[in-house]
Amino acid sequence: MDIKIFETTEKLDQYAAELFTELIIKKPNAVLGLATGSTPIGIYAKIVENHNNNKVSFSGVTTYNLDEYVGLTPDNDQSYAYYMNKHLFSHIDIPAIQTHLPDGMAEDPQTECARYEAMITARPADIQLLGLGHNGHIGFNEPDENLSGATHVVKLKEETREANARFFASMDEVPTEAFTMGVGSILKANTILLVVRGSDKARIVKEALTGPITTQVPASLLQTHPRVIVLLDQEAGRMLS
Ligand code: GLP
Repeated sequence: MDIKIFETTEKLDQYAAELFTELIIKKPNAVLGLATGSTPIGIYAKIVENHNNNKVSFSGVTTYNLDEYVGLTPDNDQSYAYYMNKHLFSHIDIPAIQTHLPDGMAEDPQTECARYEAMITARPADIQLLGLGHNGHIGFNEPDENLSGATHVVKLKEETREANARFFASMDEVPTEAFTMGVGSILKANTILLVVRGSDKARIVKEALTGPITTQVPASLLQTHPRVIVLLDQEAGRMLS
């Protein structure tokens, strides 16, 4: 694992955005695995800046997002489809048809999971961006005795719903289920880029990166991947020696 700790958020965002920009310049038809949450917002802003400065075009790029809430339409401002349009897709020249998220409104969730997994398997990501949940979840793969390898529907833990409630008008509106790539789907990526910020995640960062590999800390399975880059701010990295 290549772990980098940054003095400022600005530098972290710039570094991460450059990784994406350089990849796309080298490989214009790159496949990007994307994530949501508060962590990637600054990175997407820098990527948009690079695009606006004519450094990079996304016309040949394909994207797959990690996850989506069950029951939210793309025009619901809490859906991850809405988030991606707001923070990235509407600001760059990527054709909508080349952007993919699980369909939160799919009538048959099992068929939707199989459809999504087949796409990821056919074209694994060159780079997969990941944030980290406080309980060690990646995507929406929650700690459990067993983890699903492929895309599946997960019942969200109360702690995860509470952590995400800040984006909703009330706790009742936070969905109880989500589609998520499985840990196996995530590990198919050529390179994994894990980004974590904030002192409240310092303990889980240490556990995930240096603790035992266990399904109770889904991010610890990243230790089995040959190419993982971890970008941390000083607060998130404070418990690493
Ligand atoms: C959410 C998302 C994850 C995200 C994580 C951390 O539940 N499903 O993909 O990485 O929580 O979010 P944040 O960056 O807001 O702390």
